[in-house]
Amino acid sequence: MARPAKAKINLDALRHNYNVACNIAPDSQAVAIVKANAYGHGAVETVKALQEHAPVFGVACIEEAMELREAGIEQPILLLEGMFSASEVAVAQQQGFWVAVGSRAQIEMLTHAKAGQPLKVWLKLDTGMHRLGVQPHEAVTLYRLLAESDNVADAIVLMTHLACGDELERPQTDTQIQCFDETLAAIKDVADELGQTVETSLANSAGTMAWQDCRRSWVRPGYMLYGGNPFGHSQESADQLQPVMNLLTAVIALRDIAVGECVGYGANWCAQRPSKIATIAMGYADGYPRVVKTGTPVLIHGERVSIVGNVSMDMITIDVTDIADVQLGDEVMMWGEGLPVDEIAACAGTIGYELLARMPTRVPRIYVGG
Ligand SMILES: Cc1ncc(COP(=O)(O)O)c(C=O)c1O
Repeated sequence: MARPAKAKINLDALRHNYNVACNIAPDSQAVAIVKANAYGHGAVETVKALQEHAPVFGVACIEEAMELREAGIEQPILLLEGMFSASEVAVAQQQGFWVAVGSRAQIEMLTHAKAGQPLKVWLKLDTGMHRLGVQPHEAVTLYRLLAESDNVADAIVLMTHLACGDELERPQTDTQIQCFDETLAAIKDVADELGQTVETSLANSAGTMAWQDCRRSWVRPGYMLYGGNPFGHSQESADQLQPVMNLLTAVIALRDIAVGECVGYGANWCAQRPSKIATIAMGYADGYPRVVKTGTPVLIHGERVSIVGNVSMDMITIDVTDIADVQLGDEVMMWGEGLPVDEIAACAGTIGYELLARMPTRVPRIYVGG
């Protein structure tokens, strides 16, 4: 029998979640964000499962886009960080990639490049996140540079990214929308003059689910496709999502220990009652966070039990004293249906995005749902 650690990926749940995004934003088109190996779910399989639904896929860089092309994906692929060098323009032209550009340097790479197939361009505007994007005061000039270039296709998309879309009480999103709309109005004047149209995009998952005014020409859901809830609390749309990844393993050893006996590296959990300890094949080398403390839940026989002691590289110990008839080989769920990855992330002081995106290749992905 193979080592039982595995990530079961439910492609029906993925499609369900994509449909949730589309239903929330029926007047928008939805770019399915599949960067970082589709947040750890396997980019090629994820794209194949969504191919008949999503018009475009979003990745971080050309290497991620090429992986999809090499797997036979022919749809447009949006490079969310654009080109890292002038040579990437030619590749984008050959492959028909769409490019997000967020600086004068990137824009000049494109406008100065040898003529080729005109590219669909997303002009990224910094409306307050201050990470990437052109500044509002230079946006009109840079838009004109793009719009007048033969290397750029009509209908440039003005895009921005939200810093705090997942925090509904904070003012930043409204401020970003206002900045976006003021800049858009000025850009539209130039577009009218040139006989061009401007498309728009503001929303990531949180923006799609919670900020109606962010549902423009395009939405860009990522985390929600995988069933993640970015809000950290119940939310009408997020509650409709289904987890796509079930991180599973099984019991590989069982023992009874007496009061006072301690478990695992550092011997930092000691039994206060006669206890049954199950060892499971899962550890930090499988992407499970070492930092979690005793008390972090896993599911066995559909019941929550607690991790006890330190997470090791390949193993974790759990207290199954209260669960009847635990056997070697019994399945254990680390996160997934009934145990949201967001909850485990909170135990680890991080976000579910990180746990999913850094899931190592050592954990085999098993795809279900065709
Ligand atoms: C530009 C851009 N759009 C959309 C997304 C998707 O965000 P989320 O996973 O929160 O939906 C990301 C991810 O970080 C991004 O960088």
